[in-house]
Amino acid sequence: MTEALAETERVLRELEPAVERLLERHLATAREWFPHQYVPWSAARDYDGPLDGTAWSPEQTALPQAVQDVLVVNLLTEDNLPSYHFEIATRFGRDGAWGTWVHRWTAEEDRHASVLRAYVHARRVVDPIALENLRMRHVGTGYHSGATTPLHALAYVTVQELATRQAHRNAGTACGDQVGEQLMARIAADENLHMLFYRDLFADALALYPGAALAALADVLEHFEMPGAMIPGFRRRAARIAASGIYNLDVHLEHVVAPLVRALKVTSLAGLGAVGEQAQERLGAHVEQLAERGPELGNCSSAWRP
Ligand SMILES: [Fe+2]
Ligand SMILES: [Fe+2]
Repeated sequence: MTEALAETERVLRELEPAVERLLERHLATAREWFPHQYVPWSAARDYDGPLDGTAWSPEQTALPQAVQDVLVVNLLTEDNLPSYHFEIATRFGRDGAWGTWVHRWTAEEDRHASVLRAYVHARRVVDPIALENLRMRHVGTGYHSGATTPLHALAYVTVQELATRQAHRNAGTACGDQVGEQLMARIAADENLHMLFYRDLFADALALYPGAALAALADVLEHFEMPGAMIPGFRRRAARIAASGIYNLDVHLEHVVAPLVRALKVTSLAGLGAVGEQAQERLGAHVEQLAERGPELGNCSSAWRP
């Protein structure tokens, strides 16, 4: 066994009691919900094709352009669940408490793409054929997080679940459709619980390995990129989403980076060692940099991913 593999196994083993505790809390907190109850079926009509209904055309869309963009990005991002499952199942394992979490998380996530797509189709939000073509390309490409250690993987999912929560929540608020807002708030509530699981697990990791965990968090935040950044035409959509205020660097700082830095008490952690102290400084500089850059999305992919 290589040294890196032995280290990975040690970290996963030492964190497993925390996984068990947080999984129990998650199961006690998560509220049962049924996706079909959130879809406005009465607004739907048959499409062209085998059912000989009405083809989609742009004037059928009642939602603003930036909301159409964010729904496409959020939906395609959720569509890549098979890749995310592979990522965490191979990194965290399929046995014990880790495995129970991985499968439970996957079951919960699996609702998001299906219910969002049903909503988008029922409301005729975007061209369903273009959407399906994008899905085939996006899911066909697959997704690799590039996380190098379990601590990097944990830091990434912590940030990503919170960013995802915010993207769904803000898309709902901006959509101007009470049914859509209710649906996206419901999905955001799931993402929030996922974030709390990972964030509190990461707090345990910080207590066990302060320097290495903080360095992983700094690495992840400095290079954070949403899985949706791989979507064809992402930059164009991200620019409109940023301009609308649904998700941009200001949102990323105020609702993702700053709350995590506060909750994990990043600035007051002690006993970090040289690497950890360096990471603390890097994180401080990162927050300042985000504050200076204003609301644009910068290179578009740096802050975004639902
Ligand atoms: Fe999701
Ligand atoms: Fe999630």
